[in-house]
Amino acid sequence: MSILIAYASKHGATVGIAERIGAALHLRGLDACVMSISEVPDLQRYDAAIIGSAVYMGRWMKEATSFVRQHQAQLVRVPLWLFSSGPVGPKSLPEAADLVEFRTLLNVRGDATFDGALEAQKLSLSERMMVKAVRAPYGDYRKWDRIDEWAGAIANSLAASATEQHVQMA
Ligand SMILES: Cc1cc2nc3c(=O)[nH]c(=O)nc-3n(C[C@H](O)[C@H](O)[C@H](O)COP(=O)(O)O)c2cc1C
Repeated sequence: MSILIAYASKHGATVGIAERIGAALHLRGLDACVMSISEVPDLQRYDAAIIGSAVYMGRWMKEATSFVRQHQAQLVRVPLWLFSSGPVGPKSLPEAADLVEFRTLLNVRGDATFDGALEAQKLSLSERMMVKAVRAPYGDYRKWDRIDEWAGAIANSLAASATEQHVQMA
């Protein structure tokens, strides 16, 4: 079984989350390929997909929403999970509007919104001004335990489907 983990990231925090999910799946003996959403060669070769995006101004990044819309027909045929990388600091933010939409549009087995990371030196001047205006705090708020746990649940879900299929075929 080959699992695609495709991410859209502007400043790297989401890449770290995607790689962590990939590492957790590898630890469980699964074949997971982590790559930027713009580099996915061919969806057909994957048996399951995990797609994630950073959230900016309440939305997933355009490359992620375009990818999902373009490949909707293929994505509904495989076990699919979605994640957002967004909130920073203690303040909770509304989840990305696209995640809400895709939950109804696709056959999503599970989704998660993970806390993200903000590093001042990686941001443009206008981004820093926006961060200042909303008083968002800088720092790395990614909770690796939560990400590992979510990846573990995906591995369990895939193992359960494989067993089910095996029983049906016997
Ligand atoms: C200008 C700007 C706007 C943001 N808007 C949101 C938002 O609407 N909702 C949210 O949850 N996070 C928001 N964030 C936080 C980012 O989603 C978070 O830092 C994310 O982890 C960045 O991922 P990346 O480094 O992969 O691009 C914003 C960050 C910046 C700099």
